Amino acid sequence: NNYAIIMAGGIGSRFWPISRSSHPKQFIDILGTGKTLIQNTYERFLKVCPQENIYVVTNENYTKLVKQQLPDMADGQILTEPVMRNTAPCVAYGCFKIESLNPEAVIVVAPSDQQILDEEAFVNAIEKSLQTAASTDSLITLGIKPSRPDTGYGYIQYTDLAINQDFHKVKTFTEKPTLEIAKTFIQSGDFLWNAGIFVWSARAIVKAFGRHLPEMHEIFAEAKPVYNTEEEKSYIHKAYQQCINISIDYGIMEKADNVYVLPSAFGWSDLGTWASIYDLAEKDYVGNAVIPSEKVIMYDSSNCMVNVPGEKLVILQGLHDFIVVESNNTLLICPRDQEQNVKQVVADVKAKF
Ligand code: GDD
Ligand code: MG
Repeated sequence: NNYAIIMAGGIGSRFWPISRSSHPKQFIDILGTGKTLIQNTYERFLKVCPQENIYVVTNENYTKLVKQQLPDMADGQILTEPVMRNTAPCVAYGCFKIESLNPEAVIVVAPSDQQILDEEAFVNAIEKSLQTAASTDSLITLGIKPSRPDTGYGYIQYTDLAINQDFHKVKTFTEKPTLEIAKTFIQSGDFLWNAGIFVWSARAIVKAFGRHLPEMHEIFAEAKPVYNTEEEKSYIHKAYQQCINISIDYGIMEKADNVYVLPSAFGWSDLGTWASIYDLAEKDYVGNAVIPSEKVIMYDSSNCMVNVPGEKLVILQGLHDFIVVESNNTLLICPRDQEQNVKQVVADVKAKF
């Protein structure tokens, strides 16, 4: 009864210019491992559920990329969205469809763009969560010990009350707080980062949609007779136009009162931003990370992250704490601590060019 849903329809705009709406980061071998992020994610889930129970939800513009990179996936395992509506509709589509096939299903829902170093610990955590989700109606999320007041994450405050000792009842769930609030969370010590990896029974999540996003519940419950028929595609096409744009974090996790967190440590890293790549990268003694180590010469420069593939010779003189990235004929030079603004840059560039 174990199922997995890989969410792969985001555009990764903070990773611009490498990640583009035509080729987002989940389809890129960003770490130089020989495999793309979605391929690594898929292979991790082969260890927790049968191949035919893995689903990918993605935008129709990326179906071709998914098929190329995951050739073993049957057409019915790739769920396509006609428009981007963030993760709540993506979760609803996947989970309601699975529920219609198997009402006893337990499902892990995960992003397609994360790095996990300790796969054994990861598989253990997921298996344990699937078991607990099967016997309770809890919405489980995996929590990571935070290391900085990052405003790009969800923050989970948990209590001592626990199921099976490990799954702590969540007191508050705060998606993407302001920097001030994130700082107080870090200081208080009883907060975890939301890893964005969720585990629940099909029944529990369907119920949660009914309570917290009732319109969306109606849309995807009404689709029950068409799942796995010829009409699925055209129904879903229309259904998505009616869905509001909201993430599962804002739409359900912040509101639900049956959320539990499993504190986890498996070398998790969200490859959401250049800072996260810089953190992982090998650095020289003054903190410069050069990936790949092409033609770069640095004088009196430190804590920079340079990623300029190809033939170009790059010279840095007196540059500290900067990101220098070139991709797709675009050069980005930005102080490392201002990269959250890249999201806005992308929007402006789109509007202008
Ligand atoms: N199918 C589909 N459709 N997938 C989507 C869509 C969509 O419209 N939007 C985003 N995704 C995919 C992304 O490709 C990514 O794999 C995953 O869903 C999560 O979306 P992000 O946009 O990367 O979310 P986030 O990083 O801002 O925040 C989430 O993850 C953090 C940890 O990485 C939240 O769950 C946070 O609470 C969490 O801390
Ligand atoms: Mg992310």
